[in-house]
Amino acid sequence: MYAGDDVSSIVVDVGTHTTRLGYAGEDQPQHISSSHVGVIVEEGDRNGELVTDESRIDYERKHFEVEPIVNSDGFITDFDKFQTYLENKLTNNFQLDLTESPLLFTEPNMHNKEHRLKLTEILFEKCNVPCLFLGKNAVLSAFASGKSTCLVLDSGHNSTYAAPVFEGYILNGSTLRYRIGGSYVSNKLHEYLKSKGIPVNPGYAFNKVVDGEDIKVTPKSTEGFTDSYRDYHIHKIIKFFKQECALVSDISITDKKLENIKPYEYELPDGKKFEIGGERCLYPEVFFAGVDIINQELEKAGSDAQMEDDDDHLKGFIGVQHAITESINQTDLDIRKELYSNILATGGNCMTQGFISRLQKELPEIAPQNLRVKVSSSHSGSVTEYCASSFTGGSILGSLGSFQQMWFSKQEYEENGAIMVERKCP
Ligand SMILES: Nc1ncnc2c1ncn2[C@@H]1O[C@H](COP(=O)(O)OP(=O)(O)OP(=O)(O)O)[C@@H](O)[C@H]1O
Ligand SMILES: [Mg+2]
Repeated sequence: MYAGDDVSSIVVDVGTHTTRLGYAGEDQPQHISSSHVGVIVEEGDRNGELVTDESRIDYERKHFEVEPIVNSDGFITDFDKFQTYLENKLTNNFQLDLTESPLLFTEPNMHNKEHRLKLTEILFEKCNVPCLFLGKNAVLSAFASGKSTCLVLDSGHNSTYAAPVFEGYILNGSTLRYRIGGSYVSNKLHEYLKSKGIPVNPGYAFNKVVDGEDIKVTPKSTEGFTDSYRDYHIHKIIKFFKQECALVSDISITDKKLENIKPYEYELPDGKKFEIGGERCLYPEVFFAGVDIINQELEKAGSDAQMEDDDDHLKGFIGVQHAITESINQTDLDIRKELYSNILATGGNCMTQGFISRLQKELPEIAPQNLRVKVSSSHSGSVTEYCASSFTGGSILGSLGSFQQMWFSKQEYEENGAIMVERKCP
């Protein structure tokens, strides 16, 4: 079976931070939610129940664990939970049955054959989807901006990719991935608050009574609330704080003293007010300077709050501008000119104030002098456009008449097995 005009295809874009779902052919995802599920523990009959709706996960609830639906690399770890997650999302938000819906899945840029085969098997065998397609994030982001050849810089929550796309295909050998994204800045800001003795209290941990000008906050018992539930809520608070205060400086912080950066005043949900100074620029600076340079700056400033590179994930990362040139340098000589003039910055982390303009300033300084460099991003600067470019590309692709012959059908699966996904969805 192939999808036709009468069948609504669904685009499923699961990031490590956010899941975006919607009909192919629509500009924006109809449903956007956190990529987490909740599991009720210790509650009689409902013990073990999986909660997939974000508003229900946010609801104040004891004995409730919250866990991500994909691992930090963007791959599904528990396919049973994922199946429930997907079925609930499609039933509750689209009144759709998986057995009737062609599904176009976005997938992480790094090719993972084992994961693709497993996902294919689950979708056909357990969810009984009629047909599916898997498309790499970078390729779909390129389509969203009307390009089939470009260099995609996708800086999301847990990863930053520099991925060359040529004539609609990702160049795997030249794609670079670093395990760093918006979560890094969030974690650093959280550590900073801890080091200053500023506690981040989730909403369920206090009572707030507003009496005229006065706001009275009293602590509440947190007994029975799990650690994962607490971390999930704290992360949301830090995320709002970060999105408001974090700033990429227009010049390297080695040229600008930390104390010259304008402080920002912020109020936490429990009414606690504080100011953040140079750190609002220091942590996002990692995307342009890498960890080593930032540590040198911290040392000079007499701070002992070093940024630890305790994981392999930052090895070799000296900034997104270098990731782009390094990735392009690994492509064929004759396509480099086109890539340099078609750089697309996408992913939520690129929305940090000052990020795009700093990239536009730094990249031409290190790119070959004879080549024109053009960095473009979302036109309106809206969150949806930045974060949902893969969704939008999938939506465009899934609604093209010429694409309808490209779906991987259940019949083809039954005749050839899951391995055929490697050929049908290159
Ligand atoms: N205005 C903003 N300023 C700074 N950061 C932002 C802003 N808006 C979103 N972000 C950050 O972008 C990240 C989410 O981006 P995105 O939705 O692209 O990630 P994802 O696709 O779920 O993750 P990944 O691609 O790593 O799997 C989060 O860390 C979020 O805090
Ligand atoms: Mg992403």
